[in-house]
Amino acid sequence: MSIEAGTPTSSTEPNAEGYRGFTLGQFSFRRDEYFAYISWPTGSHIMSVDAFLRAMQRDIAWDFFYGIVNFDGVFGTMNHYGTVDLFAGRYNDSYRKAELDYSENIDTPIIREQFKAILEDWTNQTFDPFASPHETGPAFGVKNGSNVDAITRRRVAATRMVNLPGDEELRNDENGHPLNRMFLDVPQDEPLVEAEPGFEGQLAGFNLFNYLARSQVTWNPSVVSVCKDSLFCPTTEEYILPIIHGNDRVEWFIQLSDEISWEVEDRDTGTMRSRVVMKAGDVCAMPADIRHQGYSPKRSMLLVWENGDPNLADLIASGQAPTYPADF
Ligand code: PHB
Ligand code: FE
Repeated sequence: MSIEAGTPTSSTEPNAEGYRGFTLGQFSFRRDEYFAYISWPTGSHIMSVDAFLRAMQRDIAWDFFYGIVNFDGVFGTMNHYGTVDLFAGRYNDSYRKAELDYSENIDTPIIREQFKAILEDWTNQTFDPFASPHETGPAFGVKNGSNVDAITRRRVAATRMVNLPGDEELRNDENGHPLNRMFLDVPQDEPLVEAEPGFEGQLAGFNLFNYLARSQVTWNPSVVSVCKDSLFCPTTEEYILPIIHGNDRVEWFIQLSDEISWEVEDRDTGTMRSRVVMKAGDVCAMPADIRHQGYSPKRSMLLVWENGDPNLADLIASGQAPTYPADF
């Protein structure tokens, strides 16, 4: 079958294990009981299907994120904010040297819809790609239903500043937001705010630890404050960040609780650059020319501080802004 580049297709007939096959440009995708198989004109690749689906879930939820989302050391996406490169071996020194790397640029709506179709068809009813491995059933086996509720989760959005009148009360056990099993010891007290006369009902504070302790998903930063381009995005983490994030800008991490180990590699070649162990209270900046993956042995709280300036990626790529965060 000849395929026009950029035209996504899917097989209507499922394979022997019950799963459909898909194409995007010259890439094709299929799964069996344990693995996802990806092929392109110069090569092919295999991934454990649980890891593949966890990465796919993040790439969709973050709408291709800042910079590069590596599913592993070979396959992934690079966001150009309107189009997306789908690549294999592009950021892998060995593939590059052997000239086996391959990349296609695809309009964002097309890749977004096809990724959603793959995730929906390949996710069984037992598997929640957002959950920690301990809090989900298996991804494996022949096709067994679907889990549309889990993969199309909507973020819980406050209608206004948390704790001001009119904010929906999200911090309780009754409405589906119980404390996570690993955060039962997190203090639940709220700050006392004493407003000057005339300002009652306009000032509020809240216990962010209390809030985060109720998150049922892992490795999924949510924007909780916006000040111009400064975005505070806390998240709860357990096990391994399902993607290796290749930065196109500097980002800061503030470890709010427990501990995460980060493996930091050169963004373009994958060469190891450092290991960073962050304990509660530690702050670090990740440069714009690296990629990183975090390991969280217990559920932990992390604040990711992003700069959402839409010009930043080009300024850094063209050398007009530095790849590192600060001159001391
Ligand atoms: C990151 O790539 O910087 C990142 C992504 C998701 C997280 C934490 C950090 O949950
Ligand atoms: Fe990152």
